[in-house]
Amino acid sequence: MKQKPLRVPIALKRNPYEVVIGGLGIEGIGNELRSIGFNSNCKVLIVSNEEVAEHYGNKLIRSLEENGFKASLLIIKAGESQKNQKSIGLIHDAAYKERIERNSLMIALGGGVIGDMTGFAAATWLRGIPIVQVPTTLLAMVDASIGGKTGVNHPKGKNLVGAFHQPKLVIIDPTTLKSLPEREFRAGMSEVIKYGVIGDIKLFNLLESLPSLNSLKGIRMDLIEKIIEYSVITKARVVEQDELEAGIRAILNYGHTFGHVVETLCGYGVWLHGEAVAIGMHTVGLLALNRGSWSWSDLSRQQALINKANLPFTWPVMQSAKILEILQGDKKVRNGKLRFVIPKGIGSVEIIDNVSEEEINNLIEKINR
Ligand code: NAD
Ligand code: GLY
Repeated sequence: MKQKPLRVPIALKRNPYEVVIGGLGIEGIGNELRSIGFNSNCKVLIVSNEEVAEHYGNKLIRSLEENGFKASLLIIKAGESQKNQKSIGLIHDAAYKERIERNSLMIALGGGVIGDMTGFAAATWLRGIPIVQVPTTLLAMVDASIGGKTGVNHPKGKNLVGAFHQPKLVIIDPTTLKSLPEREFRAGMSEVIKYGVIGDIKLFNLLESLPSLNSLKGIRMDLIEKIIEYSVITKARVVEQDELEAGIRAILNYGHTFGHVVETLCGYGVWLHGEAVAIGMHTVGLLALNRGSWSWSDLSRQQALINKANLPFTWPVMQSAKILEILQGDKKVRNGKLRFVIPKGIGSVEIIDNVSEEEINNLIEKINR
């Protein structure tokens, strides 16, 4: 007998939906779609990567067909380098070929790259058709699949082209993590640690209580489901307050400002996003310590979790002039001022925009020592 799934509502005024965690599995998706009102003769275009489709594609198609849906599968090459307009063209070509209509559906089966691209293709096909997210990386389960940010990269920068397009449903089957490479698992754990620091002390304590965080093997499946549930709830509460990122949603970028600098300095793809975010969280944690906004003990607790997940926290390269230059060009600069999300303690952060260049230089000098 399957366990009942955990259900987290995303209570948005215009586009409410549910995140369903565990229980159903990929094989329960067809039935779940019918229960939220999709007609059984609805056409479905699934978009995935080869590696993911190999493991879960047939299971998903079977579940859809058993429930009367007409499903087709489009495979896109994996990787951040494929997150571009050309791939969106491929999805739109497939949508044309399969005669995907306004009341049809796209399903993203994969990590954040597939989720962001399929979401954007769905937002723009026929001026917007429904999308269901089926995330298969830890990062996509706790972050990318929720909240409606979709898009692709532009040659001049990451995620510069996009749209907000909320999914109709997010279905998380944590057993899909069994085939995920461990390095990708750890990168997702970085975002989980982020949720603990920005808003959920209960999650932070749970992570502290586990003997290891660096691989799925060391964590019981019911605890992985709890970790995902707590993370999703934290993201949901933020997105519900600020769907279009006019203010508070920026706290989800904790650790991302310095993380972005690491990614840019080293070249995209050298460090996984989550690894760069771990370095970013430690750096901004030091900034908070310098300002007296949190304590040594808080910083050490954060560092201990980063260590336990086998994530990096020291800078791979150090060029202060370059770091400042990249910070100035960051999307998070407002009116020429550097903005940071800094911790006030475990479970609480604030957005500040009064950090001087001198403060950054001192910080970089300190990290270098
Ligand atoms: P990814 O989508 O590139 O997936 C990583 C790799 O794992 C890929 O090679 C993929 O094929 C493989 N994979 C995925 N699931 C697997 C599984 N279960 N078994 C085996 N292999 C599997 O990486 P990601 O970390 O999931 O996503 C990163 C992307 O997410 C970035 O483009 C980032 O901008 C985006 N993102 C978006 C949001 C948002 O709010 N929309 C938030 C965070 C990140
Ligand atoms: N990942 C940041 C956000 O969804 O806003």
